[in-house]
Amino acid sequence: MFGPRKSLDTLLHRPSGAALAKTLSWPHLIALGVGAIVGTGIYTLTGVGAERAGPAVILAFAIAGAVCACAALAYAELATMIPAAGSAYTFSYAALGETIAWIVGWSLILEYSLACSTVAVGWSGYLVGWIQSAGIHLPAALLSGPHGGGIVNLPAVLVALAVMGLLVAGTRESATLNIVLVVVKLAALAIFIAFALPAFTADNLHPFMPYGFASTEIGGEKRGVMAAAAIVFFAFYGFDAVATSAEEAKNPGRDLTIGIVGSMVVCTAIYMAVAVAAVGALPFTQLADSAEPLALVLRTLGQPQAGHLIALAAVVALPSVILVMMYGQSRIFFVMARDGLLPRRLAKVSARTGAPTLITVLTGISIAAVAGFFRLDEIAELANAGTLLAFIAVGGCLMVLRRRAPHAPRLFRCPAPYVVGTLAILGCLYLLFSLPSSTIARFLIWNVIGLALYALYGRRGSVEREAPANA
Ligand code: ALA
Repeated sequence: MFGPRKSLDTLLHRPSGAALAKTLSWPHLIALGVGAIVGTGIYTLTGVGAERAGPAVILAFAIAGAVCACAALAYAELATMIPAAGSAYTFSYAALGETIAWIVGWSLILEYSLACSTVAVGWSGYLVGWIQSAGIHLPAALLSGPHGGGIVNLPAVLVALAVMGLLVAGTRESATLNIVLVVVKLAALAIFIAFALPAFTADNLHPFMPYGFASTEIGGEKRGVMAAAAIVFFAFYGFDAVATSAEEAKNPGRDLTIGIVGSMVVCTAIYMAVAVAAVGALPFTQLADSAEPLALVLRTLGQPQAGHLIALAAVVALPSVILVMMYGQSRIFFVMARDGLLPRRLAKVSARTGAPTLITVLTGISIAAVAGFFRLDEIAELANAGTLLAFIAVGGCLMVLRRRAPHAPRLFRCPAPYVVGTLAILGCLYLLFSLPSSTIARFLIWNVIGLALYALYGRRGSVEREAPANA
């Protein structure tokens, strides 16, 4: 009923012509992880989260982080067990069958592509704020899409295309540059905490949960701690981009475990500190609706120089998130095309760089188009829906493969896998249903389109159906 499954052996032995070069080691992977995780979620969505939950956005970060930690543990086990490109899509192909794998792959397209678009729009917010605070005024029509009264968000389009160019130039160069950008991004958050924390006022945390806990519609908008958790969830994912690059890791067992678990723990700690510093320094209503909330906090505290510095760091470093997510996206397409579910010529790898050029260019152009015309929170919510579905599948894969292949080698074993897998699934479902109903409707439409494509093309092109490996 769910189509053929890939055998684990097939995933480990690949014909040499279509394999990706093994160029990455664990420092690259941890930088890839932190590079993908810390971004617009903390730099920009902290404001949206505060608007939805009040000061309890701190709690929203903790909830989203706890759910992601369960998913990260499941990812780590699966990635070291199945060190082939494609992350949740590939795991699902092995554990749950081709149809579910397609749905997961199709959802991952939302995760990676729309995350890139979201970060591009967040980047544009900091760039514009930074330029305007220097007294330079730009034509408003080119700074936001039609939703904001403009024509196109040109800075967001340009940054997406620039990152695409970097990726086309080759994986290795991009990953190395990424390390430098990660350092800048973390240093800026440290500076933010150092300046904002001394202004901490306990009064700003009262009332702590002005809109309650559950996600409820208040004044036409979803509010409450869970509504905020469902959007700031965006700030936590990205570690799966590390799993996506498993096939290019030199020593997948050790490197992936350090890369995924390490980057997750580091980021969770940083977010909690930033959230406390932000909502402690200013009443939460002032954070809401800002396109650059962290810079706003520092300027309001009378620290314009530090505010400029944060904005500059965001401008310099947020493209690293786009870089990693776009990299992940092109690899998902690559693997789906190699499996015959998408046109196979998309999987052609450049002999010079070892990267799939055509698919990277197509991905980059689509991401730029979405970034140019749509609203940040709406794009982020749809990206979250796709990611949550992928995480639910990963929780399921963990448990199914423990049962079906208990003795297959696992270089990292998730503790209490049935508890962790179940918590990941339930937590992600709760977050998914805390999203606005308009987002859930869009997500369903996306999947209906996906399933139609699968029925018309993917199912027929499937390599696995030509020669089922698990027959
Ligand atoms: N977690 C990434 C970010 O917050 C996608 O930008």
